[in-house]
Amino acid sequence: MAYEYILVEKRDRVGLITLNRPEALNALCAGLIDELGQAVALFEADDEIGCLVVTGSERAFAAGADIKEMIGKDFQQVYREDFITDDWEVLAKTRKPVIAAVAGYALGGGCEVAMMCDFIIAAENAKFGQPEITIGTIPGAGGTQRLTRIVGKSKAMDMCLTGRMMDADEAERCGLVSRVVPVDKLMEEAMAAAAKIAGHSLPVTMIAKESVDRSYETTLSEGLRFERRVFHSTFALDDRREGMTAFAEKRKADWKHR
Ligand code: CAA
Repeated sequence: MAYEYILVEKRDRVGLITLNRPEALNALCAGLIDELGQAVALFEADDEIGCLVVTGSERAFAAGADIKEMIGKDFQQVYREDFITDDWEVLAKTRKPVIAAVAGYALGGGCEVAMMCDFIIAAENAKFGQPEITIGTIPGAGGTQRLTRIVGKSKAMDMCLTGRMMDADEAERCGLVSRVVPVDKLMEEAMAAAAKIAGHSLPVTMIAKESVDRSYETTLSEGLRFERRVFHSTFALDDRREGMTAFAEKRKADWKHR
């Protein structure tokens, strides 16, 4: 499929999506969001793919929603369209794991898209922020919600009210990113992590993701109950028996469902 704003590649069992609108620092115009949704849906349906990686350029993961596209919109229109539309949520709804590999700016919608992924690996030059306040609006794709759940109220308020950027070290300290690596190692690290994930049993991986995600939506006791039930469900899989048998026999597991 030919795309205008993204590059899409399959590397073994990893689906790589590169945001590719360099002239606008990967600003997330409607066309880009549409293509991102299509690419994610194709990888989600592709049995050969076990993990996705979303990245941008060395200069920018994405500098936010496209401000020039938004300038002329009025309340009637954004309300009618329910802008930011559900199309934006495609990464958050993906059942296969998704890693965001972030270098450079991840601002506004860019930070929000990164937070929709399961975890973020950041290059040392990464800069995260919710600067919408500086252009007279507020985050509209999860910046006040996901960021607050991830980094807590104080830091989220700081970011959303001042509009300042945080660097990769601060992002790692507050748990927004899982690891920070040199810029020239970002893709190697992200693709290696994705290959490792894609090398596990796919249903077990999806169950693990679903269970961690559940912790964001529910109370601890309900979350623990959910975890136990889906833990039990892994015992219905050949791969659970194979994984434990392989451990006992000191050999590599040969997963049936990848
Ligand atoms: N929308 C549209 N175009 C953008 C853009 C955006 N979010 N961010 C950058 N661009 C464009 C610039 O207009 C510029 O284009 P021209 O060359 O045609 O003028 C090009 O990308 C390069 O940008 P700069 O010249 O500004 O580059 P810089 O290095 O001087 O600054 C920057 C980089 C600090 C990231 C700056 O571009 C910037 O502040 N961008 C906007 C960040 C922002 O406010 N994001 C939030 C958007 S609102 C949102 O995302 C709502 C939501 O919750 C979904």
